Amino acid sequence: MKEKESSEVMELEAETVQFAINGMQHTVDAKISPTTRLVDYLRNTAGLTGTKVQCREGGCGACTVLATVPDPENGGSSKSFSIQSCQQLVYACNGWSIETVEHLGDRYNGYHPIQQSLAGFYGTQCGYCSPGMVMTMYGQQKSTGTLTASQVEKSLDGNLCRCTGYRPILDAFKALADDGEQALKDKLVDIEDAFKTKCPKTGECCKGSCSSKKIVAKDREITVQGVKWFYPTSLLSLYSILDQLSEEEKVRIVGGNTGQGVYKNDGPFDSYIDTSQVPEFHIVQESAMEITLGASVSLKRAIEVFEQAAHNPGFQHLQEVAKHWSNVANVAVRNVGTIAGNLMMKHTHQEFPSDLFLTLLAADAQLALGSGQDATVTYVSLEDFLLTDMRKKVVVSVRLPSLAADTQFRSFKITPRAVNAHAYVNAAFRFQVDENDGFLVKSKPLVLYGGINPLFIHAANTEEFLSGRRLTEQGLLTEAAGILAMEVLPDALPQDSSPAYRLSLAQSLLYKAVISIVGSEASLENQTAGTLIERPISTSKQSFNENPEMWPVGKPIPKVEAIAQVAGEATFPNDEPAQPHELHGVFIQASVGSADIKSIDTSEALNLPGVVAVITAEDIPGVNDFAAEAGTQAEEVFASGKVLYAGQGIGLVIAESYEVAHQASELVKVEYENAQKPVLTIKEALDNGNVQPDYNLITGKREPLITGDIEAGFKEAQHVIEGEFDMGFQFHFPLEPMAARVTPIEDGYDVTVTSIWPAEAQSSIAQVLDIDANSINISVRRVGGSFGGKISRAHVVSAAAALGALKTHRPVRVALNLKTFITLIGGRDPFYSKYKVGFDDNGKLASVELDMVSDSGCSANEASAGLGTAFASNVYYCPNWLLRPFVVTTNTPSNTYMRSPGIFQGILTIESIMDHIAHYLGKDPLELREINLAPAGAERPAADPIEKNVFQDDILPLLKESSEYEMRLAEVEAFNQANRWRKRGLAIMPMCFNLGYPDFRFGVLVNIYSHDGSVSIAHGGIELGQGLNTKTIQVASYILGVPVSKIKVKATSTTANANSSHQGATVCSDIVILGVKKACENLRERLDSTRQKLSVEGKGDVSWAELVKICKSSDVDLSERIWTKMSEYPKAYDIWGGACAEVEVDVLTGQFVIRRADLIEDCGKSLSPYMDIGQIEGAFVMGLGFCTLEKVKFNPETGEKLSNGTWEYKPPSALDIPVDLRVTILPNSSNTSGVLRAKATGEPPLNLAFSVVMALRKAITAARAHRSRFEWFRIDTPLTVEQIQQLCLVDPQDFSI
Ligand SMILES: Cc1cc2nc3c(=O)[nH]c(=O)nc-3n(C[C@H](O)[C@H](O)[C@H](O)COP(=O)(O)OP(=O)(O)OC[C@H]3O[C@@H](n4cnc5c(N)ncnc54)[C@H](O)[C@@H]3O)c2cc1C
Ligand code: FES
Ligand code: FES
Repeated sequence: MKEKESSEVMELEAETVQFAINGMQHTVDAKISPTTRLVDYLRNTAGLTGTKVQCREGGCGACTVLATVPDPENGGSSKSFSIQSCQQLVYACNGWSIETVEHLGDRYNGYHPIQQSLAGFYGTQCGYCSPGMVMTMYGQQKSTGTLTASQVEKSLDGNLCRCTGYRPILDAFKALADDGEQALKDKLVDIEDAFKTKCPKTGECCKGSCSSKKIVAKDREITVQGVKWFYPTSLLSLYSILDQLSEEEKVRIVGGNTGQGVYKNDGPFDSYIDTSQVPEFHIVQESAMEITLGASVSLKRAIEVFEQAAHNPGFQHLQEVAKHWSNVANVAVRNVGTIAGNLMMKHTHQEFPSDLFLTLLAADAQLALGSGQDATVTYVSLEDFLLTDMRKKVVVSVRLPSLAADTQFRSFKITPRAVNAHAYVNAAFRFQVDENDGFLVKSKPLVLYGGINPLFIHAANTEEFLSGRRLTEQGLLTEAAGILAMEVLPDALPQDSSPAYRLSLAQSLLYKAVISIVGSEASLENQTAGTLIERPISTSKQSFNENPEMWPVGKPIPKVEAIAQVAGEATFPNDEPAQPHELHGVFIQASVGSADIKSIDTSEALNLPGVVAVITAEDIPGVNDFAAEAGTQAEEVFASGKVLYAGQGIGLVIAESYEVAHQASELVKVEYENAQKPVLTIKEALDNGNVQPDYNLITGKREPLITGDIEAGFKEAQHVIEGEFDMGFQFHFPLEPMAARVTPIEDGYDVTVTSIWPAEAQSSIAQVLDIDANSINISVRRVGGSFGGKISRAHVVSAAAALGALKTHRPVRVALNLKTFITLIGGRDPFYSKYKVGFDDNGKLASVELDMVSDSGCSANEASAGLGTAFASNVYYCPNWLLRPFVVTTNTPSNTYMRSPGIFQGILTIESIMDHIAHYLGKDPLELREINLAPAGAERPAADPIEKNVFQDDILPLLKESSEYEMRLAEVEAFNQANRWRKRGLAIMPMCFNLGYPDFRFGVLVNIYSHDGSVSIAHGGIELGQGLNTKTIQVASYILGVPVSKIKVKATSTTANANSSHQGATVCSDIVILGVKKACENLRERLDSTRQKLSVEGKGDVSWAELVKICKSSDVDLSERIWTKMSEYPKAYDIWGGACAEVEVDVLTGQFVIRRADLIEDCGKSLSPYMDIGQIEGAFVMGLGFCTLEKVKFNPETGEKLSNGTWEYKPPSALDIPVDLRVTILPNSSNTSGVLRAKATGEPPLNLAFSVVMALRKAITAARAHRSRFEWFRIDTPLTVEQIQQLCLVDPQDFSI
């Protein structure tokens, strides 16, 4: 399929599409399906797996590549920009030139500065997002020719990273920016020296400028597997194509094809029409009276045009439109997504809250619609367009008129996440006003809303009401809000925000618009109501002691795999190339939450060409339970009779291609009986009685954790309060989706799987297939993030693939798409906490009675309520605790451990209780906390007495000082006094995480090679981003005395590391490193004793390499295997931390920004400071997701999980992190336990994210004070933008000017 590199002009053969990838011409032949996405072509056909894939809907950026395409607006020239290859259809790449991460640099030819910078700034953890990050930044550079710090921040709006917390990625790219901070640039110099940078072609670093053949434009039509692709080169030829098509034919006009990211089920299509060569679709015409943009002008180009035009009279309003559109989707979508495409999405799906539709309507735009039947153009308003039958018609262009000089135009988009999120509600307003007459509204204004209900656009009565009124009139907006309340009637759908919130937003946005228009006429305290919170460019600081005495242990070195990760050279399980005759498996999933399976009809699926088999529970020869060791309750690979949740696997369709398997999975007909309403919440489960006590971590029994005498405590207490609240679900959301490939071999099966517990994956397959464990060979080099999700949950995927391989005798790959991943597999268990606390006048705790109920989903195997209660004391002392853990089961996927499982909710619960007591007593929340800090020697319910309260003695004083807490507290107070509609909050949170060594064990093998003394390590842990391999190498290097560069860590395997535990808790890294340390010490002892013998003989002065050779010839074993033994583990130790967070809330909308966060964590003597800082920042941001963003919604009738993709489920983006993030590793700390005096870091910092909720509570409290509402209010998590606004109690009575 590849041809030699070329840049000549060529004519295309009739049935082909040609484009270049990394300078090599590719001719797409008819074997490639007409709907193939570029990402699949790159990965499966071109073998370029550096480009990753997760969401396939434009929501994650993992698949980003650079496209250089002919620019129809500018004749023969071309333009370059980043695109998401998951959205791009291969048959629409004709004449394009694609560059992937492999082209920027590699180990043979040197690395690109962007790659070097990302690696050198510690910007990778698991590395799965890294190629996409690199290509996004490369695209930014190529498309604008510049790079500024502001561009860097904005250009990452479509790239998700679940590991790093983004800070190091932003720093890495800002170091390359023209205006980047000098300190970052200085660091870059050292980084560039560290990597190979030469390009073989230019002698310099690769700039990726290899070009492709230019294609002669001519009308063409090709038919691929029965589907037609048309390539018209003029509007007239487009019309004639439309005219030819029958009425019934389903046609897709291909702009950027990004619409499929939102509406995935619009196909299948009979024909595709590529409009990239229709010149009329790309025009940009500007005159004094109007601007005309062709239908296929991209959002990015339109924004540029608007920004320019806004300098001209009559077009100033386009500045507002440009700003609004810059917040539509993300950079890569805006690069290719077209105006017509967006408007047609609104046309087809009227509920779509299109920002383009709303703003263009407010701008009085007209659409030119071309008809294929008579080749004529008619102009329609946006509203008439929605009523037009678009069959055989196209949008040709959009015309924006100039507006009168006295026009005021405002538009808003309120979203659950800072960027790349569709609106809860969007709004656009247009007023013609007389500024000299109290902002008299001279004509009927436009008051437009999206996101209300599919048909709602105009608030007609409000428009009428405001006509002829003065906007400065006091009470006007209160009255207008009343009218809005009568006509804005939001629909109530389970996936949407509440109608109450959307109505309140509609009212608030009108008020916001008016305050913005009247400007300084508004009172000082109201003026900030007129704007949205602007986020400045972020900054950061990291502080740590270097401790050089043990280097390389403790040395801040880059992650050993970093440069391979940023170049796409680091491979993940699903990057493995296809085996000959490989098949693809796709799960058949239940569509109901609770029912019995009556019948499964697979006939239609089996008849689909390309389908090889369909397997169900009946095909399982062994035990239908993939949780071999993980729990006591069987977890079925395929539901055998009873469906426990919507999304559960019922079977697997196996086919020659993924596409066919997927299509066939939807043809399987499952009949259900005895269907019941699914139980989806803890409350419903409690009502149903699906509840049992969870384990007490100390006794191991299903019983409460008790210290002291709870009743005596309550009797003594001067005050007793009670409360309750909910904490929601969180999906692990690793960027690398779950996948497995099982290949039959002579003595069993080779398995590649995204598992961090290969040993149990092996047991699970053995159990399901009823074969011996030694028939199953699993090897895992790395996974792309897990956070607990790939401990036991990967087994269902590997077991299903193994069953497929058994049935078909062929290799079977099961790679979950994001929707299946989210709906098949559970996440962090939701919790409900109910408490009763007694305390004295001062707030000192006397008794805490706490029930923590965890929703473990459909099986109770991995409940974490026991952990929750065990960690609920956090840093506090109370003489009497009664902590009752409970677990309920629901009709949802079986939940599983997630970073700081239960512990997070335990700490969050006690911190909420502290806030409650402080509120009750009217005390400062920090002071109240200080009163309750446990002194040295204090007893704890589930851990040994505290040796020293490090938070109190070391962290709090440092935190107060470095964060300038007292001064900022006063500033916050002053700000809140001065602003009615913006509120700030500042809070300090303590944390103590008692890390015990559990029943986990690992096999470790260390080999020294006699050839040259280089070292390999195969340990039973898995590198998943946490830096385990880097720390391992640092420790081995220190003990063996071998340079870091001479040591490599190999894949974990069930042969070299048999029976190892999972890499699923912070402590696992400790144990693995402990094993490596011991193995190296044993080897060192053997080598030292040989050296001693040589010394006695006067030959001791030999090099390491010579010594190793001598050892081999004198029968010294150069390999050491260690089985870590629980009896040798260090004792438990405390990890301490503290956070100070400041937020600012826009009261009218609920949107907020974290102005600053200072985090301090006690890492003992850090083994690798930047690995630890990475864990602290990444965990904190993941915690932010849980606390403020990540909400899951279900269909209450069917139990279907509705938050099943990036459109609905929102992990934090790069623009959600603190604007100013400062991380300090506690100086002068050590650890008398642990490994080499270090402390683990993976999980504890997650808990510090609750500081943001505490700060938000303060801001909300300040807002409620205006309504004279001073009572305690409950905060459930996630505390989303919606919840914040609702808690702020916005009342239109207060809408004064
Ligand atoms: C992750 C993501 C986030 C997004 N967020 C937002 C958001 O916040 N706000 C918002 O408003 N939008 C949002 N969008 C929508 C985005 O703006 C559109 O996907 C994009 O503009 C569509 O343009 P396209 O060229 O890719 O259309 P395509 O996908 O190519 O086409 C979409 C539809 O338009 C039809 N079509 C295309 N051109 C024409 C034409 N000239 N005449 C007639 N029919 C035509 C096609 O047949 C198809 O039905 C988001 C999209 C994604 C993927
Ligand atoms: S895989 Fe393409 S954006 Fe997520
Ligand atoms: S490093 Fe970004 S997702 Fe793992």
